[in-house]
Amino acid sequence: MPARAQAPRLLPLLPLPLLLALLPATGSDPVLCFTQYEEATGKCTGLLGGGVSVNDCCLNPAYAFQKPGSKLCQACRPPRWSPWSAWAPCSVTCTKGSQLRHRRCIGWDGQCSEKVEPGTLEWELQACEDHPCCPEMGGWSNWGPWTACSVTCSKGTRTRQRTCDHPTPKCGGHCPGKPQESEPCDTQKACPIHGAWAAWGPWGPCSGSCHGGPSKPVEIRNRTCSAPKPSKEPPGNPCPGPDSEQQTCPGLPPCPVAGGWGPWSPISPCPVTCGLGQILERRTCDHPKPQHGGPFCAGDNVRTLICNTAEPCPVNGEWGPWGQWSPCSRRNIKTISCEEIPGQQTRTRSCKGRKFDGQRCIGEQQDIRHCYNIQRCPWKGSWSEWSSWGLCMPPCKPNPVQTRQRLCTAPLPKFRPTLTVVEGQGEKNVTFWGKPSTLCEMLQGQKVVVEEKRPCLHVPECIDPEDEKL
Ligand SMILES: *[C@@H]1O[C@H](CO)[C@@H](O)[C@H](O)[C@H]1NC(C)=O
Ligand SMILES: *[C@@H]1O[C@H](CO)[C@@H](O)[C@H](O)[C@H]1NC(C)=O
Repeated sequence: MPARAQAPRLLPLLPLPLLLALLPATGSDPVLCFTQYEEATGKCTGLLGGGVSVNDCCLNPAYAFQKPGSKLCQACRPPRWSPWSAWAPCSVTCTKGSQLRHRRCIGWDGQCSEKVEPGTLEWELQACEDHPCCPEMGGWSNWGPWTACSVTCSKGTRTRQRTCDHPTPKCGGHCPGKPQESEPCDTQKACPIHGAWAAWGPWGPCSGSCHGGPSKPVEIRNRTCSAPKPSKEPPGNPCPGPDSEQQTCPGLPPCPVAGGWGPWSPISPCPVTCGLGQILERRTCDHPKPQHGGPFCAGDNVRTLICNTAEPCPVNGEWGPWGQWSPCSRRNIKTISCEEIPGQQTRTRSCKGRKFDGQRCIGEQQDIRHCYNIQRCPWKGSWSEWSSWGLCMPPCKPNPVQTRQRLCTAPLPKFRPTLTVVEGQGEKNVTFWGKPSTLCEMLQGQKVVVEEKRPCLHVPECIDPEDEKL
């Protein structure tokens, strides 16, 4: 059970402000008046003002007041005990102690239970024990050995340790001070300096001037291991990684592409159905097309080629020369020579060289005509004048000569030149056939022909005109 202590009701020797705080309000002394009393915290809030009497302030039982110089807030409602405070901490932290709590009579114009005046504190005390024993200090062991220096070059630190066991602390005690201490140490050795790259240099010149060609143009930049340089003694690490790098050059124009010919292709089929013909072939400059200022293809874009059908062409037949006229004769009449009796005679020709379904010869193979037979007719003739000079013979051998003649000729008889075979079919010519045996007086010892020859002069050489052209 907690012990109960009652505050004195009257302490005449206390200083005046404290005395005033403890005295019950008389009702006429001036106070600070508040509009609210907070039951949970015991605080006055909502200051109305000072210089009013308690009686006036507490006309409203919800109000509260504070005497000048006092921290205590008194409620205007009828007095009653506040809730108990929390227990104060135990008076000692180890072994047995005791602790207090309190409550206060809060209110005005009346008394709390047991006739206690407002403002009075009431106490309770109880025994307490946080720990059954009090902590006892321990003692340190001697320091252990120093550790090795924390670094292998330049300056570092080393440490040593001690343990809290001389003696060991009891009941939550400890040793004063730190279980570890350290001090600087010097290895007396320089540290190696590791290399580090300086910044990249500028990009170098580009290895090409256009892109899209056989090689990719690149540019290179370098860096040096100089920020800092690795130390020699002791040896520092070199810089990691390459000291140069490359990239494809940006912003280059495309490379010119020279044009190339595509394949030849015929424009039309072979124009002939037999033998050889000629076709035209064409190609275009699109393998590849010239681009970006590259040159056009050199050479022709068309050519002619021989095409061979391997078929022989038809050969048309052609008439050979007419043969000799047959002797002029007439059926059923034995001889018509030297008489005005028309006969008939024929000559033939043959169609030659027709092959591979070529055309036949056009026209008649046989020729028929009407004739008068004057072969060997013994007629008296007379010498003609000289003929004109003939050709120089032979034309291409040395000493050519030309000739002219006088011939023994007889005039043809005045036979009717035409005849009508069938009425209404017109007239047919009648031709003289044969060579009469003309009789003339001898001339220069000749009966039929007198010849005169003379050399041809200043004869040129026979040269093939094709050779002459060379
Ligand atoms: C980079 O270094 C190489 C040799 O190491 C040198 O030939 C080249 O010119 C350098 N390039 C630049 C852009 O400095
Ligand atoms: C007959 O002869 C004349 C003159 O000689 C000639 O013009 C004509 O064409 C000939 N007629 C025939 C059918 O041969």
